[in-house]
Amino acid sequence: MSMLRRVAAAIVVPVVATVAIAEDAGVKAPRLGTPLSADAIAKWDRTIFADGRGLPPGKGTAKDGRVIYEQKCASCHGEHGEGGTSEELVSGPTPPSPDNPSKAIGSYWPYATTIFDFVRRSMPPAAPGSLSADETYAVTAYLLAANAIIPEGAKMDAKTLAAVRMPNRDGFIWIDIKK
Ligand code: HEC
Repeated sequence: MSMLRRVAAAIVVPVVATVAIAEDAGVKAPRLGTPLSADAIAKWDRTIFADGRGLPPGKGTAKDGRVIYEQKCASCHGEHGEGGTSEELVSGPTPPSPDNPSKAIGSYWPYATTIFDFVRRSMPPAAPGSLSADETYAVTAYLLAANAIIPEGAKMDAKTLAAVRMPNRDGFIWIDIKK
């Protein structure tokens, strides 16, 4: 046997052995990932668009939201959303300016629907996704009312939340990435 053929034989042997072991164990090789179930996809496929697409059924008011806020949010964001160890969430309902440089959600964010999306997917940080749809609508209503953007008693649901006009709606420049 030439040197080259000896090397080739040495390489082939382990590959054959691996396939034989895999077949013995009744496993089909190679195993490149597992298909996701519809339920597993639904858990992650929860984007809410600026215009409200993706908002789930449910409703809530600032009154209910205040209770949730005190229990689950105030420890980091302050008793009234003024900020604490974490971001300020409440400010005057005017766009940021040199006199009011606040980037709190009420003065800065252009769409109220983003508050719902952000809170549902990431707050509170120790238990993201733990708030029900009603609780998320309620705490979003509380934050909007605390920022003086909606009246205290306003009910937030998929339709009313998408219709909220944020003070800084026109403070951003649209860039068409396709151009
Ligand atoms: C353990 C502390 C903690 C708790 C409790 C908590 N948050 Fe937060 N929150 C944070 C931190 C830290 C950030 C900044 C995260 C980032 O920028 O990625 C944040 C960011 C936010 C923002 C975005 C603010 C901005 O201007 O970017 C919102 C809205 C928010 N939290 C709402 C809530 C709500 C509602 C609750 C209660 C359900 C809550 N948070 C509970 C720590 C907390």
